[in-house]
Amino acid sequence: MASLHQMFDVGGKSVIVTGGASGIGRAYAEVMAENGARVCIFDLDAERLDKVICEMKAGGGDVWGQTLDVADRSRMASAFDTVADRHGRIDVVFANAGIDAGPGFLSTEGHRIAEGAIDLLEDHHWDRVIEVNLTSVYTTVKNAARHMKQTGGGRIIVTSSIAAQINEAIVGTPYMPAKAGVDHFVRQMAMELGTYGILINCISPGPFMTNIAGGRLQIPADRRAFEQQSLIGRIGDPEDIKGLALYLASPCSSYVTGSQIVIDGGSMHRIK
Ligand SMILES: NC(=O)c1ccc[n+]([C@@H]2O[C@H](COP(=O)([O-])OP(=O)(O)OC[C@H]3O[C@@H](n4cnc5c(N)ncnc54)[C@H](O)[C@@H]3O)[C@@H](O)[C@H]2O)c1
Repeated sequence: MASLHQMFDVGGKSVIVTGGASGIGRAYAEVMAENGARVCIFDLDAERLDKVICEMKAGGGDVWGQTLDVADRSRMASAFDTVADRHGRIDVVFANAGIDAGPGFLSTEGHRIAEGAIDLLEDHHWDRVIEVNLTSVYTTVKNAARHMKQTGGGRIIVTSSIAAQINEAIVGTPYMPAKAGVDHFVRQMAMELGTYGILINCISPGPFMTNIAGGRLQIPADRRAFEQQSLIGRIGDPEDIKGLALYLASPCSSYVTGSQIVIDGGSMHRIK
């Protein structure tokens, strides 16, 4: 029988985390490095990336980074190749980078917000949210599969959202179909990639205290609105997601693929 250590062992694994310089992605990068993996973080924010790498290295982590926009397809392909060259292979990929979509059509107090109305939505804003939150997941999975097929398999973990499964008036509209598309894409990829030993799953968070939307959840009114949805009276801390990330990256989850695993303090039950 496997020991607890063997079941959760990611020691020596070659890991990529997109959007790993902040919030949920940073927690993924930390839990992998804390458990002996070699981690490369891709992030758009060079300053924050440098800071996170310095802090994680100071804690003994084997971590480095590449500054890039996940929407840049050729840069993504070369960044994956650079990781494979340096680590020898790619075992685990977190497709996590994402952005908010601005205000929804209602405020937390229930007032209509013109900027969030469908007839006034800027087309370039719609395009960018789809590009970063959905198309970049396609690009990430494509490059992960290209490498993992050569080495007999791997794990792909995509950060979706409970927004894929519910409707929320206070969340910017383009965010919802982007995340719903992510969920469906992941199920489709699970069908295609299983025979290559590549398992792919979604982590579907509810509200977490991160820097998304310029730290919107740190504004008391917004924070309260989301706290009230949680069945345990608080929003998530990135630390809360580490266990699930480790589970999906490790031998412990060897029979799990094509799943959307919700981590939301029970919020979805209240919203539904
Ligand atoms: N925080 C929440 O409440 C919540 C809930 C559900 C899902 N999510 C999802 O979690 C993921 C991480 O978000 P977070 O809350 O940790 O936000 P965050 O803003 O704290 O972190 C996101 C990171 O992604 C990076 N990033 C953004 N666009 C990028 C791009 N084009 N290329 C490369 N890097 C880019 C940012 O620089 C940042 O470091 C996102 O996919 C988000 O949709 C968040």
